[in-house]
Amino acid sequence: KAESTLSIVVVGASGELARKKIFPSLFALFYEDCLPKNFTIFGYARSTMTDEELRNMISRGLTCRIDKRKNCNEKMDQFLQRCFYHSGQYSSEDHFSKLDKKLKEKEGGRSSNRLFYLSIPPSIFVDAVRCARRRASSEQGWTRVIVEKPFGRDSKSSVELTRGLKQYLSEDQIFRIDHYLGEELIENLLVLRFSNLVFEPLWSRNYIRNVQVTFSEDIGIEGRGKYFDNYGIIRDIMQNHLLQILALFAMETPVSLDAEDIRNEKVKVLRSMRPLQLEDVVVGQYKGCTEGITSYPAYTDDPNVTKNSLTPTFAAATFFINNARWDGVPFLMIAGKGLHSKRAEVRVQFRHVPGNLYKQKFGTDLDKATNELVLRSQPDEAVYLKINNKVPGLGLRLDCSDLNLLYKSRYPREVPDAYERLLLDAVEGERRLFIRSDELDAAWALFTPLLKELEEKKVMPELYPYGSRGPEGVHYLAAKHNVRWGDLSCDDL
Ligand code: BG6
Repeated sequence: KAESTLSIVVVGASGELARKKIFPSLFALFYEDCLPKNFTIFGYARSTMTDEELRNMISRGLTCRIDKRKNCNEKMDQFLQRCFYHSGQYSSEDHFSKLDKKLKEKEGGRSSNRLFYLSIPPSIFVDAVRCARRRASSEQGWTRVIVEKPFGRDSKSSVELTRGLKQYLSEDQIFRIDHYLGEELIENLLVLRFSNLVFEPLWSRNYIRNVQVTFSEDIGIEGRGKYFDNYGIIRDIMQNHLLQILALFAMETPVSLDAEDIRNEKVKVLRSMRPLQLEDVVVGQYKGCTEGITSYPAYTDDPNVTKNSLTPTFAAATFFINNARWDGVPFLMIAGKGLHSKRAEVRVQFRHVPGNLYKQKFGTDLDKATNELVLRSQPDEAVYLKINNKVPGLGLRLDCSDLNLLYKSRYPREVPDAYERLLLDAVEGERRLFIRSDELDAAWALFTPLLKELEEKKVMPELYPYGSRGPEGVHYLAAKHNVRWGDLSCDDL
């Protein structure tokens, strides 16, 4: 570790993702001593900028959020001194050769590994990979490339993109990032399932009524109209983040925790799922509304969105998994922007207790007697289980309570950002939390026919007011499968 060097090149260094996530996460890793002793970071983008200007830009995004140790400012300075800038076109081999020269200078003749982070639009992924591979890859060490979604718009374009990347890279050099897989709670899903006796035996159609995987944001598209209008919520959130969570939730026990074993199980469960059809789905789009003196914009108010755009900002879908474990269990997936709250969670609703002795105590609303397990990733990470409990006192009154593991009470130290974990994994060559190409194909296969049908039939999204709970249609969709969307029993935490 002492002798080899690591060069990290952030391609698209002036973009928002680089500023808000990639550089701050690299700093956090440096602060925690997780990066090798000899490392250099290069920002690569088209605009002209000096090293100093890049450092200023990066420093505005750095915080000492890890803790308030005194040496934070000192550490920031040390980190910034390792950051340099190189201006170049993304498709110019010549510009990448010049980058290579600078990298070699910093590497000082030591054996070096190189990690490229492509924080650029997918239309130029292959060009940038070609240049990096031909002109700036490591001669003795490894070369890895992290790519961010969108990985195509459908099965066909995704396969083309993979083919393009594989002209220059082998599969194990490609790190397809899905930042939800780096979230603490999502990692914990496997620990909960496979390291506790009490959950896994219940993890099947015998005990689980339905599973709800929800993502909701209380903001709209916030100036990302150009990107979003071309993709929509199904491609932006469901096909990747939520489907990944669902796969981890529903997969069979892997042979080991090795990346290939876990990814094999994910592919298997994805391939056991039925591709979505129009009747499995409700789509919505937020419309403007006024509350008191505040008015909220409609999706189509964004200057980069066409006035008659049919792009969904909300979607709900029911999946079924055709295997012995999950036959007949609806998995309700919901994703939306411009809703009333920010939330990302998995909610498991268990079946009723057969022959419940306390049935009459719950009156007609038997749903109240149902246990629920919630894994909340945002906001405020928590795992809680809703149970039925006797209210203390002489009479017999039942109440629904929570066994609650709230992270900020139990683990006061701040939870690392998803990008920190994923960047560290890429540096260490740990592929468990990255998407393999056959996984990607299986994921697209589930959504492509639906996306095509929505577009060909020009399906009108149901409008819902900004800040609301989304379109009414989702309740009907859920009811069709005997699912009550949202919490059944207690007030949510
Ligand atoms: C991104 C999507 O992948 O995830 C965004 O493109 C979304 O539309 C974001 O806002 C949500 O991430 P997080 O970490 O804030 O939940």
